[in-house]
Amino acid sequence: MLSNILFLTAVGLSSFRPAQSQSTPSICDNSTLLIDSRRVLITAQECTTVAGNIVIQYASDYPAIIEFPNLESVDGSFLSINFDEDIRVTRLSAPKLTTVAADVYISRWVNLTTINMPVLTTINRVRLNHLPALTSANFLSALETIENNYEVTNTSLKEIKNDKLLYAAFVEIFDNKELEKFELTALANASYNIALRRNKPGVEVSLPALEEVFYFEFQRISSLEIPELGRVIGHFVVNDSTVESLEAPKLQNVGLWYDPSISITNNRGLLIQNSGSLKSFSFPALEAVQLDLVIRNNSELHDISFPMLKRVTGNVGLEGTFESVRFPELDRVGGIFSLGNDEAGFNCADLQGFNTNGTIRGSFSCPDYQELPTRSSSQGESKKEIEDWLNWTSPGTGFESSRSISAVVFAIGISGVLLVL
Ligand SMILES: *[C@@H]1O[C@H](CO)[C@@H](O)[C@H](O)[C@H]1NC(C)=O
Ligand SMILES: *[C@@H]1O[C@H](CO)[C@@H](O)[C@H](O)[C@H]1NC(C)=O
Ligand SMILES: *[C@@H]1O[C@H](CO)[C@@H](O)[C@H](O)[C@H]1NC(C)=O
Ligand SMILES: *[C@@H]1O[C@H](CO)[C@@H](O)[C@H](O)[C@H]1NC(C)=O
Ligand SMILES: *[C@@H]1O[C@H](CO)[C@@H](O)[C@H](O)[C@H]1NC(C)=O
Ligand SMILES: *[C@@H]1O[C@H](CO)[C@@H](O)[C@H](O)[C@H]1NC(C)=O
Ligand SMILES: *[C@@H]1O[C@H](CO)[C@@H](O)[C@H](O)[C@H]1NC(C)=O
Ligand SMILES: *[C@@H]1O[C@H](CO)[C@@H](O)[C@H](O)[C@H]1NC(C)=O
Repeated sequence: MLSNILFLTAVGLSSFRPAQSQSTPSICDNSTLLIDSRRVLITAQECTTVAGNIVIQYASDYPAIIEFPNLESVDGSFLSINFDEDIRVTRLSAPKLTTVAADVYISRWVNLTTINMPVLTTINRVRLNHLPALTSANFLSALETIENNYEVTNTSLKEIKNDKLLYAAFVEIFDNKELEKFELTALANASYNIALRRNKPGVEVSLPALEEVFYFEFQRISSLEIPELGRVIGHFVVNDSTVESLEAPKLQNVGLWYDPSISITNNRGLLIQNSGSLKSFSFPALEAVQLDLVIRNNSELHDISFPMLKRVTGNVGLEGTFESVRFPELDRVGGIFSLGNDEAGFNCADLQGFNTNGTIRGSFSCPDYQELPTRSSSQGESKKEIEDWLNWTSPGTGFESSRSISAVVFAIGISGVLLVL
């Protein structure tokens, strides 16, 4: 802290006119600058740098517009999370703010329409929520680095776009009832997740640089651009959407290995469901799905083809009106294989071969759908399942057991990181 203050003082002396630096109020050096009245606000508006956090609480006498005209950096967080009274301010502005070392978290400003922070490029994480009137937040596009979260919940933003961020841990976009476009065009890696839920139906999603993500979950989207995506470590879910086609040309792997250090509470691996406009999908490079592969209730989807898929560690569940179902390379299915076809006359005989030649470890059901068994979530059971699977697969043809062992080790490493977060 002392070094921070010395640093700030040095910056203050070197870059401001003497008259200004002399008048910098001492509250700018507070470890927490608590703004809870118009009077404190007016003093705080003189700060250029804030050595700690800025916390804005409810006050009955705030003006409609709050501006921090001089503020350039905040060494802590910029927080306003109000539980008792909603803040009625309509515009929050910090035109010179470039850096917030920790979090920008603004919540329950029910009348806020605009956050104007056009040069804010560096923060640890952003959380916006309970801002139902918000239609403009220019810093979401200006951000160049973020260490952790990019979370935008319950706003009226029509577009969320950024072409500079390379990395984020959590990307969560929920309950934005006006959202039409979501584009993070530089993002290469999201180490925890990218999730869209309960936004306006039909969001167009573009993630052209994304190579790796842990959990990938999309609801209510109308298009998805993921040309570079190679690896989804956790699950890949497209649900309740109006996409007409899904293309993942480079996706090779989906799914978390059974991991003894975490409890797996569901079977999700690759899941595509409740998307009545979906006519086709293409996963030409997909080789492995850990946990379950499920494709259900997509009424326009008639052809299922996974040309390179070799193994599914969990179950395969397919339900719909299919004309063709093709898995030319499938070698191992760790759970059951269940295919329910709504129309009579589907020929299950071709697939029956997988059952008789030992490709499927569990039961085989076609043309009637059999509900998939759910996975045990206890740690001991998970460990037994890993050993079970390894023991079952190692003698198999063409299956590299050493590869699956390193996959387990990798998954455990990642979950260790997640537990720390
Ligand atoms: C600044 O810190 C002092 C000393 O801890 C405290 O008395 C004062 O209330 C703080 N002011 C604000 C605005 O947070
Ligand atoms: C602020 O928001 C509340 C709740 O949404 C609304 O009732 C009120 O009219 C708004 N006030 C202004 C000044 O916009
Ligand atoms: C959005 O925020 C407003 C204001 O806090 C709240 O009344 C509303 O219930 C929230 N909507 C959702 C879906 O959480
Ligand atoms: C993605 O980020 C995580 C966490 O920083 C890192 O471990 C992983 O190697 C990155 N993956 C890629 C492909 O850059
Ligand atoms: C799919 O979407 C429906 C409806 O929006 C929701 O109830 C369900 O929980 C979602 N399922 C998954 C696995 O995301
Ligand atoms: C099937 O998907 C449609 C959307 O295409 C949805 O309206 C319906 O509720 C889904 N059915 C079930 C049983 O989830
Ligand atoms: C098992 O049967 C399926 C379906 O007939 C076939 O595609 C696959 O090549 C067979 N695998 C082996 C190892 O014989
Ligand atoms: C798997 O094989 C190893 C080594 O042969 C053995 O120690 C272990 O008990 C087996 N596990 C299961 C679940 O069968």
